[in-house]
Amino acid sequence: MNLTTREKELLQKIDSKRVPYHVAIIMDGNGRWARKRGLPRIAGHRAGVNSLKETIRIADQLGVKILTLYTFSTENWKRPSREVKFLMKLPEEYLSKEIDELCEKNICIKSMGEIAGLPDHTRKAVEEAIIKTEENTGLIVNFALNYGSRGEILRAVKKISRLVSDGSIKEDDINEDTISAFLYSGRQPDPDLLIRPSGELRLSNFLLWQMAYTEFWFTETYWPDFNKEHFLEAVLDYQKRNRRYGGLTK
Ligand code: FPP
Repeated sequence: MNLTTREKELLQKIDSKRVPYHVAIIMDGNGRWARKRGLPRIAGHRAGVNSLKETIRIADQLGVKILTLYTFSTENWKRPSREVKFLMKLPEEYLSKEIDELCEKNICIKSMGEIAGLPDHTRKAVEEAIIKTEENTGLIVNFALNYGSRGEILRAVKKISRLVSDGSIKEDDINEDTISAFLYSGRQPDPDLLIRPSGELRLSNFLLWQMAYTEFWFTETYWPDFNKEHFLEAVLDYQKRNRRYGGLTK
């Protein structure tokens, strides 16, 4: 991979034994990036796809094992239909162009969210990519699509309560692992690092259960300007953190 001098410098500083296993990203700021340039919001989303490609490449190179990308929330349906339509086209456009590289790199695509609620063409493109890459054993890329964390928790609670009602499990046997297992993320480990560009300091209904002990990294940079350097800076900063999980420093 072609890296700039700065990227090489940052890469050398990273401790390869302490790379975050799971990185989650809220890809925010596409609209503001476009507006600043006098462009329609959708131009920001299109430019955001490039950042997504670069991020997948650097995460893969660094040895991150899981990358979870907030692509479309259950609240994003409130946007103008033109914008929603455009956003629904991006996964198939991206996947049709990139699927070969993803397979070459042994990357496994998964989704989180109510996939059944997507337009057919979007759902089919995502499902096809999932099937095509399901045997791949490298980086897992979770696309959170039509995803909302409260809805995800509610869905898990309903599934568990059905199992209690039909006697498949006992109420006393329900623990935190049971709830985790019924989330879209299933048995994937929780994110170690959350990256949110664009200067917003909130979670926006993303992985509320899973991020109880996740380290957060924010940047003012809008997502379309987010590049490998930012990703490496986030990882370096993460490596300086002292994760105590409510305990004491070792
Ligand atoms: C938030 O920025 C971004 C989104 C709602 C969409 C993110 C989607 C992509 C980056 C492309 C996805 C591509 C693939 C291939 C799945 P915003 O529009 O809320 O920005 P603003 O806060 O500046 O308005």
